[in-house]
This record gives sequence, structure tokens and C-alpha cells, in this order.
Amino acid sequence: MNKQPIRVAVTGAAGNIGYALLFRIASGAMFGPDQPVALNLIEIPPALDALKGVVMELDDCAFPLLKDVVATTDMDEGFKDVNWALLVGSVPRKAGMERGDLLGINGKVFTGQGKAIGANAAPDVRVLVVGNPCNTNCLIAMNNAEGVPNDRFFAMTMLDENRAKTQLAQKAGVDVTEVSNMTIWGNHSATQYPDFYSAKIGGKSAAEVIGDEAWLKDTFIPDVQTRGAAIIKARGASSAASAANGIVDSVRALTTPTAEGDTFSMCLCSDGSYGTPEGLIISFPCRSDGEKIEIVKDIELNEFSRAKFDASVQELAEEREAVKDLI
Ligand code: NAD
Ligand code: LMR
Repeated sequence: MNKQPIRVAVTGAAGNIGYALLFRIASGAMFGPDQPVALNLIEIPPALDALKGVVMELDDCAFPLLKDVVATTDMDEGFKDVNWALLVGSVPRKAGMERGDLLGINGKVFTGQGKAIGANAAPDVRVLVVGNPCNTNCLIAMNNAEGVPNDRFFAMTMLDENRAKTQLAQKAGVDVTEVSNMTIWGNHSATQYPDFYSAKIGGKSAAEVIGDEAWLKDTFIPDVQTRGAAIIKARGASSAASAANGIVDSVRALTTPTAEGDTFSMCLCSDGSYGTPEGLIISFPCRSDGEKIEIVKDIELNEFSRAKFDASVQELAEEREAVKDLI
């Protein structure tokens, strides 16, 4: 095996998601069992001791694929030559807050990170934003990363997609692998629209297979929209292992060809598809050929779906207005 390592920066590496994520990247779950990796772990000074402990544990795993670990509080060093930047580090919400309430606290972090990515990262860098509110934090990073094309920036709705798939599979009494084309439209927030009309179970419309529109509208949608809050209430902390799993699934979805006929949910820079404002970071149904990502443009949105999607996009437009000084 003499492939060059893929260098991956993870911010907030000593946090809860970081702790659930790094070991999966280093074990090969993200880029495959033949692909060496190097990790650039970025933290703020108060978390440096904890980060040193995480590095000790990575060492103690003797991962065959892990070729280098950099642990730093310096963003220039942290983003140096990275092929992937996973922007996780930021404050999570507490019970009773919406993710958008974090904009004032977390938004400004992403100007500096965007600049440091533009100045230091490898020419092929791709960025996945997880720290909330992830769509608008991604918008801020994208607009501050000089020289990095907009189509390299993504924010995560894969966790929402996975949540929605499991809810539909459990309701229909089928294996989760039977659920496909599960699109989350809009914002990673309580306005997101998990589209049960275009989702499929065993290749047929999920709405028809389940045959209970009242449940889909009044239980399924709010359950997916508020699942993050339900986990905070139950666990006393926001989702971490399932979020880390969503990050692994997101990067795999972006870097491997999508199965025939299927789609995955990803927030990316709108090109105006489905009549949305260009430049906003919006979750769409996407496909990948392993390198290039395309928005799937021919999904029919009925009146109900259109109204739900529009409301979520409207929220993103308002978030953009709130951070206009940072972009
Ligand atoms: P956490 O508090 O356990 O860890 C966050 C880490 O980030 C801490 O170690 C902190 O020191 C570090 N950090 C803070 N500011 C930083 C900066 N400027 N640079 C580098 N590191 C910094 O939180 P967590 O549970 O790991 O969650 C992290 C973020 O991910 C939160 O904003 C949370 O809301 C979000 N999240 C998003 C999704 C999603 O689906 N998009 C899912 C779960 C969590
Ligand atoms: C989630 O969806 O679990 C995360 O975005 C954390 C949160 O604040 O809900």
C-alpha cells in the first residue's frame, strides 16, 4: 500500500463528537480500508490537555492506516495542506434553545476558520460543517475562504436523513435498508422538511406503503424535526455518536458513487435549483459519481412539500440577513 494519506482536519477534536469520530476515521470507516489518513486536530487552548489525552488514545490503537497526527490550537497549522476540513468545533445548544440561537455565539468562529482554510488548505480541499447552526456557519466559512470554490462547501443533514429512514422503516415494519431517496429539504433546523412523498420503501412511494398521511404529517415530520432536542432532553447532551456516524456517512456519500436511482441529503450552495435563492446553503437531494456532486433536479414537489420547503428556505434567508456583517 503506497497511497498518499488523505489529510483531514477536525475542529473541536476533543469534544463529544470528536471523540466518537476520530477513531472511525483512523480505522478506515470514512475513506476505506486501503486508504491511509493523517489527522490535524484543532482545539481552543482550554481543551488542549483533553486533546493530548485523545492523541494518546489514538496512539494506543496502533491504527495501521493512521500515518500522522497534528494537535494544535493554531488554525494556520491546523488547516495546512488538508484535503478535508470537518468543522465540528462550536458550542452545542442546551435544552430550550433552537439551533439558530447559537448564531451569535458560533457564527464568528467560522470567519476565521474560512480564512485559514483559504490560506492553508490543499488545492482540492472539501469542507463539511457540522457545528450549529451548520447551514449558516457553512455560508460564513464559504464566503471567507478566499480561492476555494463554493462547490467545495457542505453542511450536514445526513443525521436527519438517517433518523427519518429509521422512523419510516419502523413504521412500515421493514429493514432500514429498504428505505431510499429520503430527502431532507431546507435547513438543519426545526423547519427542515423530511419528504415522505418522494422517499421510497422497497422502491415504492413511502406515503403509499405507509398509507397513513395523518401519521406522516403530524407525527413523522415533527419527530424528525425535533429529534435533536429530544436527545438533548434524554441524554443531557446533544447527539454525538449518531452525529459522528452522520459525518462518516456524509463523506462516504460525497466520495463514492451513489447507488442507481437513489439520492442522499446534503446542504450545499444553491445554484437556484427549485427556485431557491442562489448562494444560500440549502439541503437538497444529491447524487455523486465519486467526485462530482449534482443536485437532483426533477423531483416533483406537491403543494404541501413546496410550502414546507419554502418555509425552511425562508428561515435560511433570515439567518443570512442576521450574519450579513460576517459574509
Ligand atoms: P462539545 O461541546 O462536546 O465539543 C465542542 C468542542 O469544540 C469543544 O471541545 C470545544 O473546546 C471545541 N471548540 C469550541 N470552539 C472552537 C473553535 N473556535 N475552534 C476549535 N474548537 C473549538 O460539542 P459537540 O457535542 O461535539 O458538538 C459540536 C457541535 O456540533 C455543536 O455545535 C452541535 O450543536 C453540533 N452538532 C451538529 C449536528 C448536525 O447534524 N449538523 C449534530 C450534532 C451536533
Ligand atoms: C442534532 O440534530 O442532534 C444536532 O444538531 C444537535 C442539536 O442541537 O439538535
